[in-house]
Order: sequence, then structure tokens, then C-alpha cells
Amino acid sequence: MKQKFGGDWTEKKLACVRKYLEAYVKIMVKQKFRFAYIDAFAGTGYREILDEETKQMMFPELDEHETESFLKGSIQRALEVKPHFDKYIFIEKDKNKCDELKNIVNEYMDVKDRVDVKNVDANEYLSDLCRYDWSKHRAVLFLDPFGMQVKWSTIECIARTQAIDMWLLFPLGIGVSRLLKNDGQIKSAMKNKLDDLFGTKEWFNEFYKITIDDHLFGSEEKLEKDVDFDKITEYFIRRLKTIFSKVAEKPAKLVNSKNNPLFLLCFAAGNPKGSKTAVKIADYILSGI
Ligand SMILES: C[S@@+](CC[C@H](N)C(=O)[O-])C[C@H]1O[C@@H](n2cnc3c(N)ncnc32)[C@H](O)[C@@H]1O
Repeated sequence: MKQKFGGDWTEKKLACVRKYLEAYVKIMVKQKFRFAYIDAFAGTGYREILDEETKQMMFPELDEHETESFLKGSIQRALEVKPHFDKYIFIEKDKNKCDELKNIVNEYMDVKDRVDVKNVDANEYLSDLCRYDWSKHRAVLFLDPFGMQVKWSTIECIARTQAIDMWLLFPLGIGVSRLLKNDGQIKSAMKNKLDDLFGTKEWFNEFYKITIDDHLFGSEEKLEKDVDFDKITEYFIRRLKTIFSKVAEKPAKLVNSKNNPLFLLCFAAGNPKGSKTAVKIADYILSGI
């Protein structure tokens, strides 16, 4: 039997983005902007198998069957939305997947000429793309990594365009929470990863407190973890709000079959004029899952 990647939570995330795209195109066709859909971790939508490193580091709590997927992914769903976007940019680092992606795109006869498939690193490509003049352009961007691949510096570039609505899968349980050791002893490579993700080293002070341990021979300062999923969520949303015009306050918590939180599905809008409507639509969609 064919299995889905993560079961329900994958379907929920893809359904949310699709619903947003459907609402977005209806609004944008009445406006003067050229508008694009950008899928920055495009995959192929059919069969995703995690590489060993990602699996071991990020996903020990996933069931074996949850590491494979055979369902229509984000790119197919985006290509099916009508009216069509003016442009589609699909970014995928893996060369083989890119080739497969091109074949899939070719099946969509009515829209294939509007699609660019880029075999590049998402962070690098997006940072460059966001430097263009976006005043006549708008886009919806979906960042759907397996783990902690999205850098805060990329998110900053995205926000700076003031033209992009961003859906982002944030690695709450599979990445961040697992790395936050109880005693605060986090390997420096992992600390760097968290710095890149949050765009600051301040997360450490948010998530750890110093306690005084009194004993017979004096007292000792100890680090203690002072964080749960809600606090990580609240902190990341606070970070997004420092750079985006408006942010959905209640991201969707995506859980696995054992009810362990894996990801947050977050939404943020960059354009000061459009962000209120954008977040209202996103809030509505997120509240329904
Ligand atoms: C979770 S999958 C995407 C699933 C896809 N959105 C779907 O619905 O089918 C993540 C994809 O990102 C790709 N990827 C990983 N790191 C990347 C990077 N730095 N830049 C671009 N693509 C990357 C992986 O090869 C993988 O295909």
C-alpha cells in the first residue's frame, strides 16, 4: 500500500496553502500587479524519502511509514489553481528531482510555459531574487523544508520586498525542541543552526534560565531549560513580527500520528497595504484545520 509522508499533517499543510492560493488569485486578477507562485523546496510531490542524515538528526520520532510520501504535492496543487498565476518558480536543490519536476510540469499543457524550474539552493536563490525591484510584482512563497534549512537572513530578504506573502513550515518539534537540551549544553554546530534559524543568539536567554543550587558546601549557578512548544511558537512569531507587516498569530501546529508536534505552519505578509486582508484570509484557513 502506498503511504503518505506524515499522513494527515502533510495533507493539512498542503490544503492550507492551496486554499490560500485560490483566494489569492481571485484578488490579484483584479489588480495591476504581475503575480507569481514560488515554491522554494519544491520536491516532486510524489515520492519523498528522507536522506539518512536528516532522518537520524531530525526525525527519530517519525514512524518508518511516515518518512515516505506518495501524494500530489505543492507544485501540482499550485498548477491546478485557476485563474493561473502569471509565473511559477519551482526551486529544488536535488538534480534528479528537478528533472522529474520538469516532466511533471510538462503534463500541465495550459500553464507549463509560465514555469521556471531552478536547480539551485533555495536560500541563495531567494536572497538574489528578493533584491529586484518588486514594486510591480507580487508573489506567494511556500517554504516547505524537511528541517532547519531556511535561514533567517533569507526570511529577512523576503520581508524586505514588501511584496511577498509567505507560508513557512517551521521545524518546531523535529528541529528546535530536540536541540534544546535540558542542561543547555548544546553543541556549537547546533547552536549555530539555531542562530541561523532565529537570526539572533538571543533565543538562548529566552529558552534558558539560571537557577541557584544551594547545597551544604555553598551554592552553584545552573542552567535550566525553561521552554515548551508554546513558548518556542510565541518567540518565533514575535521574531517574524519584527520584519513583516503582519503575521498570523496562531500558526497551525502539525502533529504526527502520536500527537507529537513536528512543525508549525506559519504565515506572514510583507505588503503594508495588502497584509491585513492577507492575514485575515490566512487566519480563517488556519483556524479551520
Ligand atoms: C518536504 S520536501 C518538499 C515537498 C513539496 N513541497 C511537496 O509538497 O511535495 C523538501 C524538498 O526540498 C529540497 N531541498 C532541501 N534543501 C534544499 C535547499 N537548500 N534548496 C532547495 N531545495 C532543497 C529537498 O530535496 C526536497 O525535495
